[in-house]
Amino acid sequence: MRVYLARPYIGNEEFEAVKRVLESKFLTEGEVTREFERRFAEYCDAKHGIATTSCSTALELALRTVGVKPGDEVIVPDFTYPVTASVVALVGAKPVLVDVDLNSYNVTAERIEEAITDRTKAVMPVSLFGNPLEKDVYKIGEEYGIYVIEDAACSAGSTIDGKKVGSFADMTCFSFHPRKIITTGEGGMITTNNDEFAEKARSLKRFGIKNVNGQIRFAEFGTNYKMSDILSAIGLAQLKKIEEIVKIRSEKAKIYAELLEDIEGIRPPEVKPNVRHNFQSYVCYVEKEGMRDKIRQELSKMGVETQIGTYCLHLEPAFKKVKKVGSLENSEKLFHNALTLPLHHELTLEQQERICKVIGDLLGG
Ligand SMILES: Cc1ncc(COP(=O)(O)O)c(C=O)c1O
Repeated sequence: MRVYLARPYIGNEEFEAVKRVLESKFLTEGEVTREFERRFAEYCDAKHGIATTSCSTALELALRTVGVKPGDEVIVPDFTYPVTASVVALVGAKPVLVDVDLNSYNVTAERIEEAITDRTKAVMPVSLFGNPLEKDVYKIGEEYGIYVIEDAACSAGSTIDGKKVGSFADMTCFSFHPRKIITTGEGGMITTNNDEFAEKARSLKRFGIKNVNGQIRFAEFGTNYKMSDILSAIGLAQLKKIEEIVKIRSEKAKIYAELLEDIEGIRPPEVKPNVRHNFQSYVCYVEKEGMRDKIRQELSKMGVETQIGTYCLHLEPAFKKVKKVGSLENSEKLFHNALTLPLHHELTLEQQERICKVIGDLLGG
């Protein structure tokens, strides 16, 4: 039997919600999206939600909203999905790559501080795989007069000291890709507590339109990153289940941690005591060089899908000439040794036991 890496938690509610929008014949961005934005922001304890077509477009929009321009530097972790840094280059600015922590997989305040120059305009920390950032990262913005744009593609529902990710940074960007905690197929959202940023992002994602004395005016060069009401209807149905989804994932993550505990050479993901990790991805670290790929091969033969963690940007062709600060050795180690195991509501205890037995046999033998 095939064991999928991820499965979206879709039920009748989503079908019904889409049907209602289709029947209304209003299919572009409208009231349903407004409600999804309001409710998602409320869920994150943030003042504003701005829906977009993806997290990638949300990140680009956020950079343009805070005014990142050609020549500016934006600090980005080297271990992330490449688009975190690509969008910096797409707005004409310079990504600056720094290393991440080997245990949390996230960038730290220390690494960011080492890379700050008088050209630094923003930092884009990534709360990777749903593991929240350390709080010091958010303080850097005020300390150095730079913007913090969090790539929280994976982190809907994660918390720090009981407070949801989405209200700590100047702008926080989420993804609703099917591998994420909740999904709209494709889609994204920015949350912010800053009224000016919210207004500007809303205008930029809607062709640069501004309402001036009741008239539509094209105030800036905008584009179209609007979210269709069809997708927002799915988002609203998903949002109602987000706590249940995180709970199911946490329970299964706990089972993995117990099953992997006694196996030498593999480290389950780190969870700090003051955070809630949403386990968007269950990413372990395989200590023995070369064994990650052997485990993947063996599991694949049994029909079990796995993944690497994510990418080491400086090894990818697009980032060869990009500025790097300090050693990027943790990022390289994680690129070669991080292993994502299947995690979703359909995964059974028996499947988890089988997966961990294979890992144990390979690492023990
Ligand atoms: C860390 C990170 N940032 C950004 C993205 C891009 O998200 P989207 O597919 O919604 O554009 C991803 C997608 O996997 C991601 O993992």
